[in-house]
Amino acid sequence: MKQLKSVMAIAVLLCGGSATAADKYADQAAALLKADFKSKGPATLERVVEQDEAQKACSSAAALPAKKAKALEEAQLKLVKYPADGKYLGDWKAGEKIAQNGRGMQSSDKVGSENGGNCYACHQVSKEEISFGNIGPTLYQYGKLRGDSEAILKYTWAKLYNAQAFNACSRMPRFGHNGVLTEQQLKDLMALLLDPQSPVNK
Ligand code: HEC
Repeated sequence: MKQLKSVMAIAVLLCGGSATAADKYADQAAALLKADFKSKGPATLERVVEQDEAQKACSSAAALPAKKAKALEEAQLKLVKYPADGKYLGDWKAGEKIAQNGRGMQSSDKVGSENGGNCYACHQVSKEEISFGNIGPTLYQYGKLRGDSEAILKYTWAKLYNAQAFNACSRMPRFGHNGVLTEQQLKDLMALLLDPQSPVNK
């Protein structure tokens, strides 16, 4: 019964009507989650109940005022860590595997094991893959259309690192910021998007 209540509270939080109702039940839901669920391996309870400023703002307001959204984006952009050696591009073949892989951070995984990026769940990435989600825009021909100027390299890195730096309430995971993907994995994905030899740009 306790568990059922928690699930209902989460449902209210995630799908629930007005911002005020979400605000009202948020603390209650967090308390229930803390009481009923335990962290196991990389599937930590903190990931669910502890929200930073950007997540809180997006959870509680039905529509974020433009000024607040801009301030949040600027703050998120400041948190982006660019590659330590200044090199943005890794191996696109490794990047394609990461884009295809939707696994990771499950209770059965080892802490510290590598996660997938699950890009195809939301984006078309290449022409070869016929099954993909469309919550995000197509990334097919991403590099061909934009080139590889310093500005594009920095923008693309920052978008992968912390999507909320450009869209305060983006639904795209914050891969670098939340430690889902390593610096090397981000470089490999950059190559997938930008290397002229990658299937993305064919
Ligand atoms: C849960 C859905 C979701 C997942 C998973 C996801 N994205 Fe996104 N992505 C989005 C959305 C939505 C946008 C549109 C902009 C926004 O709302 O942030 C976007 C935007 C982008 C952009 C900017 C596109 C542009 O035209 O400027 C890039 C690049 C990108 N995603 C790459 C990736 C890569 C690479 C992965 C896998 C590591 C990935 N995304 C995983 C949802 C997702």
